[in-house]
Amino acid sequence: MRVLVIGNGGREHALAKALNDSPSTTEMYATRPNAGMMSCTKAIDVDPIDCQSVVKSAQDLNIDLVVVGPEAPLVAGLCDQLRAIGIPAFGPSQRAAALEGSKAFAKDVMAAAGVPTAAYGTFSTAEDACHFVDQHGKAMVVKADGLAAGKGVIVSESVSDTHSAIHEILGGFVGDAGQQIVVEEKLVGPEISVIALVDGTTVRAFPSARDHKRVGDGDTGPNTGGMGAFSPIPHLGTEVETQILESVLQPTVLELHSRGIPFSGFLYAGLMMTSDGPKVLEFNARMGDPECQALLMRFRGDLAEALYATATNRLDEVQLDFDPRPSVCLVLTSGGYPARYTKGLPIYGVTKANES
Ligand code: AMP
Ligand code: GLY
Repeated sequence: MRVLVIGNGGREHALAKALNDSPSTTEMYATRPNAGMMSCTKAIDVDPIDCQSVVKSAQDLNIDLVVVGPEAPLVAGLCDQLRAIGIPAFGPSQRAAALEGSKAFAKDVMAAAGVPTAAYGTFSTAEDACHFVDQHGKAMVVKADGLAAGKGVIVSESVSDTHSAIHEILGGFVGDAGQQIVVEEKLVGPEISVIALVDGTTVRAFPSARDHKRVGDGDTGPNTGGMGAFSPIPHLGTEVETQILESVLQPTVLELHSRGIPFSGFLYAGLMMTSDGPKVLEFNARMGDPECQALLMRFRGDLAEALYATATNRLDEVQLDFDPRPSVCLVLTSGGYPARYTKGLPIYGVTKANES
């Protein structure tokens, strides 16, 4: 297969490497690959969210499978455009990607499917939202409805802080993403991520993982996209994994299917393990970054074939296999991250690190 990877972060490097190692891959391409990806892909100079240009390149290069990494091209409808001309695309449609692109939509799907999640309300005026918080009488979590690059969620410590968060997000702190908000009950417990392959109806889950959001050692400092990840969660138990599959992933996928919005691609459930069992904090319509790096280290088999089967609705023919040994991914960043930092610095020592 000739495979094209869209995106150029650490996640896409891990995907490209595993796809390149797949027996069914003959040729690998990527949009504006990072330096690490250059060793296993050929570069195409196209912006991932310029859907028309990506489609044209895929056509010109006779691509058999397009694998979309980040959320922006998914929400822009790249997979719909590829499928419309018969190119198998791994990733959800624009409408299904709204599971990540709109928190209000995700909550509505969960409510209809009976998926355990925090109690919530959806608002577009501060007055109504503040009234809801006052009735609840405790600090709540305020979330911008749309994509806000990780800045759209405010976890408050008091009712008055929750009021301020409502004004902040509805007042334009994250732009248009915050025109509508979800205000939800604050949950307590350790967090886990479960990511699954989904082809509309069939669900095949990867092992559990957890990312570390704070920038500093010992869980200190501001939140980031993730400073590292590991898999699996120790002592989670197959019972809980089965519970997450049966009470979260499958009902969500069936609910979307029954609405005529089948979900295809990676479905990422961010969960909190509360005293009442696992509850969903968020869905993403893609692999996690850096969870992907940790999970693919454990993946055994032909990833290109698994993603192709997913893209062509044959996931029921696929069984996933994983190395039982745990994996850890550490993120090294430029100084100053996540605030102000220099990009484009060379990274030395990669060859030596790969040898050890
Ligand atoms: P989200 O983007 O919705 O996953 O939110 C980002 C982070 O905010 C999560 O990883 C949690 O640490 C925290 N968070 C989100 N929702 C809640 C909630 N209902 N209760 C407590 N913490 C939350
Ligand atoms: N690591 C969190 C995410 O990819 O959303």
